[in-house]
Amino acid sequence: DWTSDVFIDASIADLKAKIGSDKVVMGLSGGVDSSVAATLIHRAIGDQLICVFVDNGLLRKNEFEEVLDSYKHMGLNVIGVDAKQKFYDALAGVTDPEAKRKAIGNAFIEVFDEESNKLEGVKWLGQGTIYPDVIESISVKGPSATIKSHHNVGGLPDFMKLSVVEPLNTLFKDEVREVGRALEIVETIIGRHPFPGPGLGIRILGDVTAEKVRTLQEVDHIFIKGLKDHGLYDNVWQAGAMLLPIQSVGVMGDERTYEKVVALRAVGSVDGMTADWIHLPYEFLGKISNDIINKVKGVNRVVYDISSKPPATIEWE
Ligand code: XMP
Repeated sequence: DWTSDVFIDASIADLKAKIGSDKVVMGLSGGVDSSVAATLIHRAIGDQLICVFVDNGLLRKNEFEEVLDSYKHMGLNVIGVDAKQKFYDALAGVTDPEAKRKAIGNAFIEVFDEESNKLEGVKWLGQGTIYPDVIESISVKGPSATIKSHHNVGGLPDFMKLSVVEPLNTLFKDEVREVGRALEIVETIIGRHPFPGPGLGIRILGDVTAEKVRTLQEVDHIFIKGLKDHGLYDNVWQAGAMLLPIQSVGVMGDERTYEKVVALRAVGSVDGMTADWIHLPYEFLGKISNDIINKVKGVNRVVYDISSKPPATIEWE
């Protein structure tokens, strides 16, 4: 029978034997998988593991600071890299969804390569790959696919010449969470909704600017905090907001406004392959809509996405 304690003991012994006194570098995303994988490797080899957490400027409001803080509290040896401007530059004027993913993926590879080249004597690359990624289901558009397409383009980044260590590659998501809890990782990381690698970059339809990111971060923050405050967060598999590339007419006092529209999305799912929209209470949606329109400058209309996957997808891009 599978238990997290048995898995953890076996995995730590295995990692120790495999890695010995070598160094491992690993990129963290703030998500469940990379956090659990890093904690497990850290248990095995301590500060021989060096983690890199990149601020791509497309994370949720305050997420970089908060998650970096949690990682440090957990004792991880983590380097935080502010690369916001690099990503905004790479995204300037790019509107096609796949081109955006590629720009973000390539910028990440450059930043990560630069950071890992500063470290000496690293032999291994740690990854939070889980079993469904291995069987290529939810990760078809994921970072690994981005890296693969980069492969074919030409020169391999230096970090990719490292041997890969993936301690979670036999586990399903619920098992990863169980292992994470047994490792006493904070619930704010373990219970968190999935969040795409390209982040808010694919939730801002059309071109991405720093200002649009700030607007969407405020909207998203009101929505997600609202879900938590109303005890709805854990009933939802994934939620977020999309900033639409259109303006609509509104009225504020005696003034006519012509401002942005945001769409809220909350879905239930098991693995992201199919999903249903969640029937959030009308009162809740009404309150969140009011809060967003009152508090976020430049937004005068909120809509709720009631499409299921298929035929829609979870993300809008
Ligand atoms: P879709 O929009 O395809 O999303 O229904 C299914 C799940 O995958 C996530 N997603 C991504 N994750 N890189 C990622 O790491 C991506 O490019 C990407 N696109 C979608 C999405 O958030 C959902 O959980």
